[in-house]
Amino acid sequence: MSKTFDIGLERLTGGARFPVGVPVGAGDANAETDTLAASALRGTFFLETFGCQMNDHDSEKVAGVLLSRGYRQVETPESASLILYNTCSIREKAAQKVFSRLGEFGLQQNAGRIIGVLGCVAQQEGEEIFRRAPWVSLVCGSASYSKLPELLAQVEAGNQRVTGLDTDTDETFETPVTRRDNPWRAYLTIIEGCDKACSYCVVPYTRGPERSRASDSILREVRQLAELGFTEVQLLGQTVNSYADPTARKMKFSELLLAVADEPGIRRVRFTTSHPRDFSQDIVDAIDAQPKLCNHVHLPVQSGSTRILRSMQRTYTRDEYLEKIAIIRGAKRPISITTDIIVGFPGETEEDLGETLSLLEVVKYDAMFSFKYSARPHTPSLAMKDAISEEEKSRRLAILQDKQRAIQTAKHATMVGEVYELLVSTKSRRETQWSGHTSCHRVVNFSSQEQALLGKYVQVRITGATPNSLAGEQVP
Ligand code: 5AD
Ligand code: SF4
Repeated sequence: MSKTFDIGLERLTGGARFPVGVPVGAGDANAETDTLAASALRGTFFLETFGCQMNDHDSEKVAGVLLSRGYRQVETPESASLILYNTCSIREKAAQKVFSRLGEFGLQQNAGRIIGVLGCVAQQEGEEIFRRAPWVSLVCGSASYSKLPELLAQVEAGNQRVTGLDTDTDETFETPVTRRDNPWRAYLTIIEGCDKACSYCVVPYTRGPERSRASDSILREVRQLAELGFTEVQLLGQTVNSYADPTARKMKFSELLLAVADEPGIRRVRFTTSHPRDFSQDIVDAIDAQPKLCNHVHLPVQSGSTRILRSMQRTYTRDEYLEKIAIIRGAKRPISITTDIIVGFPGETEEDLGETLSLLEVVKYDAMFSFKYSARPHTPSLAMKDAISEEEKSRRLAILQDKQRAIQTAKHATMVGEVYELLVSTKSRRETQWSGHTSCHRVVNFSSQEQALLGKYVQVRITGATPNSLAGEQVP
């Protein structure tokens, strides 16, 4: 899915260090890029993003870097001089997408365009990408985005094989500028990489070891965001609650949450994704103490079977996970809980699946993201025996999703008649129809006769529910 942009330079945050107006390398392009020299394409970029919120936010950083260097963002690859794919490799299907995109945009159509592969596939495949798609000239992993200007300058100077593949860098967060897509909700990476080593997961390999961002730098950026009119911030990290402040202040994650909420102008603070092992009582205490901390925790369990959890190297048992759920359920206000589940992990039996299904019954998640196990390069589970067939994985996934649908239907039914505060984020083509999300992270489509609601907080009464959506009307 490509993202559309209608936000100008004034939404850039971080302070541009580069002159705006002239793309790097303008005037010193090689012979091939000269085919574009006279055209309006010059200095334009197309950026397509695959994968998670971390990738969405990485793309905001990449767009910020390019816009601040005078590039203009365009909606189609055909109208761009620079085409970038920010890729995801968490499951095989996601990783394949970029190669089909690169195939669609083969050598003939390139005519001097620069094509770059960013993100996790870039990190995973490295220079192999040049072999599979020789028309690619830039391969850059997420830890090297701060170096993008230099890397692009090299490509624009005619170097056909430019890579940025270090993962062991402290500079991860320091891209000079970020161009944010949503004018009210800002993503902010507070911890990069992952040290957890789940046996199925390629992330420790593609994003490198865990690095936390300095708390003062986070708070400075939040302050700046609030001044620009952002009211909701979402703190991001593969294991966001494993945050370890590298400064002498040594702020705990829960203290950081409270400090972010204290910044004037901030009305909502979210965080994702939490790892069960590092989820502690003080996080719930903070949510209890500060209503600006949203009442939602995303706590991936992956499996309800202790046997499979052990084989996944998740570092907790089913019972230990349920202890964390009990902490959240003990909060003074209801906190919605969502999760990720993988079915068909090697060796998963019918009994293991039964344990996962019973866990859904016990926890009654507000939403679930479910996946068929996908073998990934460089992961320990690649060598595990007793693979489950694709057909069987699909069958298990369908059973799991049926169960969750029933749980969500019942949950949503109890919300009808209740009033929730929404941050309004979209307006439909029908004049009186809007949508927004609650603190508990549900999207509600609602009707209102009022004008100019985008970015405002409104009270909405829920009038209808399906398993996956809620409808409502604004109340005065
Ligand atoms: N196969 C299937 N799902 C995976 N995930 C991570 N790695 C894999 C894999 N190899 C899922 C996990 C994780 C989510 C982001 O993606 O559920 O929480
Ligand atoms: Fe992957 Fe596990 Fe780290 Fe999550 S905690 S990113 S699943 S290794």
